[in-house]
Amino acid sequence: MTPHDLKRPLMRLAALAASALALAAGASIEANAQANAPAQIDPALAAKGEYLARAGDCIACHTPPEGKLFAGGRPMLTPFGTLYTSNITPDPETGIGRWTVEMFLIFRLGRPDVLPVSDYGVRKGFALTFGKLKPSDKVTPADLPTPAVMEKRAEKWRPWRSIASWYLWRACDLAAGKLLQPE
Ligand code: HEC
Repeated sequence: MTPHDLKRPLMRLAALAASALALAAGASIEANAQANAPAQIDPALAAKGEYLARAGDCIACHTPPEGKLFAGGRPMLTPFGTLYTSNITPDPETGIGRWTVEMFLIFRLGRPDVLPVSDYGVRKGFALTFGKLKPSDKVTPADLPTPAVMEKRAEKWRPWRSIASWYLWRACDLAAGKLLQPE
């Protein structure tokens, strides 16, 4: 078994549990993601998230000895280097913050109207499509649009802003010369 074989199912479980955790974490994270998520947290779903977090023993790796619960930073020595576990608390700065929540909303929960304005690919795709950025240019921070600029133009993409984001990611692939075919 390669580390990759091992990582996949673990990460799939982790992603599921983390999305449930994110839901369980409640209002702050949802507000943060300006989410089209349920206004009320379903207690059954929150209980399922807690069950998965316990069953997956997330604490074992994501809480350093004597450390803050789920705050990560626990070093794990592996033959290919030291891995540090991530912070999986709902802290918007260092934990599962807005970007992570948006990725879960789009790719796990299939929400159609999420615009991840902090995502590098979406910002670059926007600059390629609506800005002055050319495919051969080296991207500088000045090329990338601000959230306000993106949100303004994206108003007319409602209620399909996740789909628009998908096209912006594809714009990056197109610029890089890799136009992906559907599998
Ligand atoms: C065996 C130890 C271990 C267990 C148990 C574990 N994790 Fe992790 N997790 C890790 C490590 C190590 C990383 C960092 C991997 C990396 O940097 O590539 C990680 C990364 C993550 C990430 C970030 C993934 C990303 O792409 O940034 C999330 C979210 C996560 N774990 C959630 C969970 C949840 C939820 C559980 C419980 C179901 C869990 N983990 C259980 C070791 C573990």
